[in-house]
Amino acid sequence: MAHSYVRRISKPQMMIVVVTSSSSIFSFCFALSLLAFFASAHILTDTEGKNSDLFPEVLREEAVARLYELGKVSDAEGYLERTFLSPASIRAGNLIREWMEDAGLRTWMDQMGNVHGRVEGMNPSADALLIGSHLDTVVDAGIFDGSLGIISAISVLKVLNITAKLQKLRRPIEVIAFSDEEGVRFQSTFLGSAAVAGVLPASALQISDKSGVTVQNALMDNSIEATEETLSQLKYDPKSVWGYVEVHIEQGPVLEGIGLPLAVVKGIAGQTRLKVTVRGSQGHAGTVPMSMRQDPMAAAAELIVLLESLCKRPKDFLSYDGQCNGFAVESLSGSLVCTVGEISSWPSASNVIPGQVTFTVDLRAIDDMGREAVLYELSDRMYQICEKRSVSCTIERKHDANAVICDTELSTQLKSATYSTLKRMEGEIQGDVPVLMSGAGHDAMAMSHLTKVGMLFVRCRGGISHSPAEHVLDEDVWAAGLAILAFLETHL
Ligand code: GLV
Ligand code: MN
Ligand code: MN
Repeated sequence: MAHSYVRRISKPQMMIVVVTSSSSIFSFCFALSLLAFFASAHILTDTEGKNSDLFPEVLREEAVARLYELGKVSDAEGYLERTFLSPASIRAGNLIREWMEDAGLRTWMDQMGNVHGRVEGMNPSADALLIGSHLDTVVDAGIFDGSLGIISAISVLKVLNITAKLQKLRRPIEVIAFSDEEGVRFQSTFLGSAAVAGVLPASALQISDKSGVTVQNALMDNSIEATEETLSQLKYDPKSVWGYVEVHIEQGPVLEGIGLPLAVVKGIAGQTRLKVTVRGSQGHAGTVPMSMRQDPMAAAAELIVLLESLCKRPKDFLSYDGQCNGFAVESLSGSLVCTVGEISSWPSASNVIPGQVTFTVDLRAIDDMGREAVLYELSDRMYQICEKRSVSCTIERKHDANAVICDTELSTQLKSATYSTLKRMEGEIQGDVPVLMSGAGHDAMAMSHLTKVGMLFVRCRGGISHSPAEHVLDEDVWAAGLAILAFLETHL
């Protein structure tokens, strides 16, 4: 399974296990000093020996330091939160612009809050390669989701600048830090990348956040005038773009399981977000008999359990009579995931039967027809439950994105860049570069409406993401930078 890259990381831990099983404290300490000696000798080899041409100062040390610095730019005290156009997002955008300029890029912020850094290379009129990811975060986020893709791209261009290759590129390269991929504030997702791809409808400007501020107001508050016309000007001409590449943490456990730092992404699951509102009869918790209640909270609980059962066992719920064919059901069984991540009630007091309960549904699957079949079945059964409980239900579709298959040619190029990187770093490698499907959404989904897309995944600890426990090894940040560098060298 693991090639030398992984063995190098896991070997010391295995040695500690062996040593502690002997009961001698002396031999334990001796073995630890030996370990420390070999570890420091190894680092010396990394930075001063065979790897000195692998730019560890920029692609590892500086990239990691910047990830941690960006991870401190938050709207909240004590945890990371940066939503669309929030004060912290603007500060993060300014910091990213500084780093882009330090890498030799010309920078600007567009009218949807995306931050761009571009180098023209030798042929300014050639179709450009776009590389990006998002600068917004979820609430109580990790520091790598989104930021890793932006920072690794900037670091690689900095290396090309240092080595005087930046101006020799055959085509322009543009890094874009997109303003909204998580959709936390407006529930919309991809406000930034969809605008660049030309698929953001003008109606998106009127979507409101929880405090009633619209996207248009949020832009105006930052002195950005947003109209249907300014929005249409953000769309890139497809002829001016060669392709889009995104580096992202895997956000799942597969790479850690197989012991490799990088994978190529084959495709991204489609997703739908719903807002379900259940209205009942508000009343006194002490006086209304159980048999006379129209309790939207109990109804919501039943709806949520229905969602879980359906998504765990779609075969038990979906019929074959026209809604769903056998193929869709099979592929759903492997990829369908459903989540209720947000729930609120009104008036939300312990001695009041709520009058209204609202919750979100996030539903994803590789198969778009299968996802539609699940949504059809889910709504049908939800309305039946609401009727049986004499409460009213409304189900609103807040967001839809179809599954995306990454471009084969671009993926092959990313794969060979990854393979050569692992070989350069580690010498021999066993097996092939893994190819994974993504259950998480990415800006590449929106960008696929503009151009061909390709993605690289980077291993993360325990597969954990959307959590402050999210972690990527410094070595893996480095590996990602080197793979993108190898890929860009094919554009020289
Ligand atoms: C973004 O991280 C998403 O998949 O929700
Ligand atoms: Mn995310
Ligand atoms: Mn992300």
